[in-house]
Amino acid sequence: LDNGVSRTPPMGWNTWNTFGCNINESLIRQMADSIVSSGMADAGYKYVVVDDCWFNPNRDSAGNLQSDPSRFPSGMKALGDYLHSKGLKFGIYQVPVDKTCAQYFSSYPGATGSQGHEYQDAQQFAAWGVDYLKYDWCSPNGSIDDQVTAFAKMRDALASTGRPIVYSINPNSIHEKTGPMRNWGDVANIWRTTEDITSSWDTGQTNGYPMGVKNIVDVTARLAAYAAPGSFNDPDMMEVGIGSMSDTEMRSHFALWAIMASPLIAGNDIRNMSWATRTILTNSNLIAINQDTLGLQGVEIQNDGTRRVMVKKLANGDVAVALFNQGNSATTITTTAAAIGKSGSDFNLLDAWSGTTSSTSGVISANVPAHGTVVYRVSGGSALAGTSLVSASASRCLD
Ligand code: GLA
Repeated sequence: LDNGVSRTPPMGWNTWNTFGCNINESLIRQMADSIVSSGMADAGYKYVVVDDCWFNPNRDSAGNLQSDPSRFPSGMKALGDYLHSKGLKFGIYQVPVDKTCAQYFSSYPGATGSQGHEYQDAQQFAAWGVDYLKYDWCSPNGSIDDQVTAFAKMRDALASTGRPIVYSINPNSIHEKTGPMRNWGDVANIWRTTEDITSSWDTGQTNGYPMGVKNIVDVTARLAAYAAPGSFNDPDMMEVGIGSMSDTEMRSHFALWAIMASPLIAGNDIRNMSWATRTILTNSNLIAINQDTLGLQGVEIQNDGTRRVMVKKLANGDVAVALFNQGNSATTITTTAAAIGKSGSDFNLLDAWSGTTSSTSGVISANVPAHGTVVYRVSGGSALAGTSLVSASASRCLD
């Protein structure tokens, strides 16, 4: 969406993956403080997104949204002011239907969705200083046409406020049940590609609830052609630092989100994160690949069911290569400079995890542990004429 924001994938933190409905203003202030003091903000994590369950179950007599009076007694404007005073940005959750997801599926009270209140709510968000809206179609009902109408209505309502607001949508599972996913780049800055993530490597499903990391990669990798500055596939908020995936799997999760130009929205408790988690989330080589200004998503050029290779062209002529082993034992994964669109005979490989460099005349290879991902930033040589990683992914998307 060409609305001036999210020219690279948004980075931030969201309440949902760790806290669900257990949120309040002091928790979010503490998290903001930790995002700054831990170095996460300096690494790029700026949007602090208050997910579902911030609502007072009733609108006021003029139909305006209100925050839950016991958990957000200072109100959302004050929370936004606090985040802004820390150099952070303010995100909030709402739905295009009548009930939020927790109101629909859990016993959280009220029916405070934006349906019929789109322009009023957009004005309210702008008045509170909201910089990011997560707009979640949490209903089993409705067609793609209904969704396009509803999501476009809020897009226009946000635009009418004049405030730059990142627009994040979740078309939920509807697209998966009715065919290939629509390219939502005309409607939103980021759009969810699957149902909700869980801290699991492999749930064995690519269309169901919830989804593991590998399963989400399977779906999202096919949609690479949709990514562009202002418009990105959203494979959901990260589970890095949550649950019991191994360190290797957590690293793969982050590396794959980085090369897929995915939003990097952390979901762990930043106040208590381990050094290992912090090291993953603040890896500057991977963040630079993710935040590259070309805004391309890595294209999968090799996948034999075990060894997978994703390639992302970067603005300065470098190419990022992810060697992803989805098998259950270590294996060597190999590609070449020619296969990633480079000609020449002298290349430099920066290993994104170790920070070490090596040189090669063309073979790009690593022994990759089970469920691991090695990422190289390849420099040197020149672009091979006639190679377009974008069109390669476009044709892959259509088959
Ligand atoms: C849906 C979304 C989640 C979260 C919850 C909140 O499940 O996909 O990301 O926002 O609703 O209830």
